[in-house]
Amino acid sequence: MTATQPRPAATPQSYSIEDWASGFRSQPDEHSYWITDMEGSLPPDLEGTLFRNGPGLLDIYGHSVKHPFDGDGMISSVAIQNGRAYFRNRFVRTAGYVAEQQAKKLLFRGVFGTQKPGGPLANAFDLKLKNIANTHIIYWADQLLALWEAAEPHRLDPDTLETLGLDYLNGLISPGGSFTAHPKIDPGHHGDQRLVGFSVKTGLSSTINLYELDAAGNAISQHSHTIPGFAFIHDFALTPNYAIFFQNPVSFGPLPFLLGLKGAAECISYNPKQPTKLLIMPRNGDPMQVIETDPCFVFHHANAFEQAGQLVIDSVCYDKFPSLEGTSDFREVDFDQVPAGQLWRFSVDLAAGSTEVSKLLTRCVEFPTLHPDAVGRPYRHLYIGTAHAAEGNAPLQALIKLDTHTGETQLWSAAPRGFMGEPLFVPRPQGQGEDDGWVLVLMYNAERRCSDLVVLDGRDITAGPVARLKLPHHVPYGLHGSFVPRYFGPQPETP
Ligand code: CO
Repeated sequence: MTATQPRPAATPQSYSIEDWASGFRSQPDEHSYWITDMEGSLPPDLEGTLFRNGPGLLDIYGHSVKHPFDGDGMISSVAIQNGRAYFRNRFVRTAGYVAEQQAKKLLFRGVFGTQKPGGPLANAFDLKLKNIANTHIIYWADQLLALWEAAEPHRLDPDTLETLGLDYLNGLISPGGSFTAHPKIDPGHHGDQRLVGFSVKTGLSSTINLYELDAAGNAISQHSHTIPGFAFIHDFALTPNYAIFFQNPVSFGPLPFLLGLKGAAECISYNPKQPTKLLIMPRNGDPMQVIETDPCFVFHHANAFEQAGQLVIDSVCYDKFPSLEGTSDFREVDFDQVPAGQLWRFSVDLAAGSTEVSKLLTRCVEFPTLHPDAVGRPYRHLYIGTAHAAEGNAPLQALIKLDTHTGETQLWSAAPRGFMGEPLFVPRPQGQGEDDGWVLVLMYNAERRCSDLVVLDGRDITAGPVARLKLPHHVPYGLHGSFVPRYFGPQPETP
């Protein structure tokens, strides 16, 4: 654009910041009830349980967290059968949550900048972490596990959401160890599913341990690779033969953390002149291949697959580390000052060791989901949260369906007063085709100051929800979750 051209009129904002921020209120209450307020109807063949995790407390007895990622993990479940749904939410009884609730005050610093009262003197050299179990919840080998990537999983009772204790994955990890918040289920062939996960130990160099578990929860393979430099790795991508990690171009200067001035994650800085490194690990334990590409920051990968000697990886990329530096209160964030995620495709030529990058979606997106059988395979349909407007950064208020073959999109927007959570694609039993199923989203409805569970038809999301279940309270904005095709609710009372 030249200086003589008028600036385009700003896109009218699709939301109010007050509405958006009101989804970040703590939810200290624990509920169990049949959902009675419903628009539309639940499909009769939709059966199973949606489990969601996310920060349930945004303050500890009046002391606000610095960042929502520091909030204590709270699990919500919606068990669906015969057109009815049962809601339940429970905090994960982590040692830190129990201690703080008993003390009625904040006792721990948070990784994302929450400090104990009393200033730097009260925080300096206190490097204890509170395992807050707030990032993801998965069901594997009959175990329900709440995950937080810097510490051990917590095991929960899927029927009651009661916390049963720390879980060591049948001895795979040791006390004090950690397990990713983003394991992947490899759909495999002939029902031979595997859970693939990892842990990272980082510092001047970084060691990634890659684990594969069979359907009984036993480790069947384990490899470790060490790379130079610091690594912030939240997620990875999986194909039948490879696990792919992105080493974002970031460095870690821990001094402000040690001195009690900042949280550990606030000490990460982005180096735009350095490449992002793709760490391509063969799942059979062969040596890793490292390929450099354009600098970008990735939290989440949408999918990856192998095709004709190429490795294709679709990822949500930011043009820098999306920190909230300089923001005193995360509820007042200026979205224009924060980078937006876009969906990029990396096409890796393994023989040449080169990568081509293209953009699949340039609008602001986060939280991808797809048919579970398409994980790691050539795929067609992706669903992902997006902003209402096609340009600029803004809260996620809409859902977009991308046909990766044609580039065509469908959009359903909940703006101006609806705010999205992570969508989850649930296949229809005996469904025909990759988009034959439903997309479930636990979203925040600012008009009611409560949350809604919406169910959309995966084949046509533009038609709007086929069912909207109105919860009589809110669930604060969450992170990740799973749909388990098994009903974990009470048996309905017989009249
Ligand atoms: Co994540």
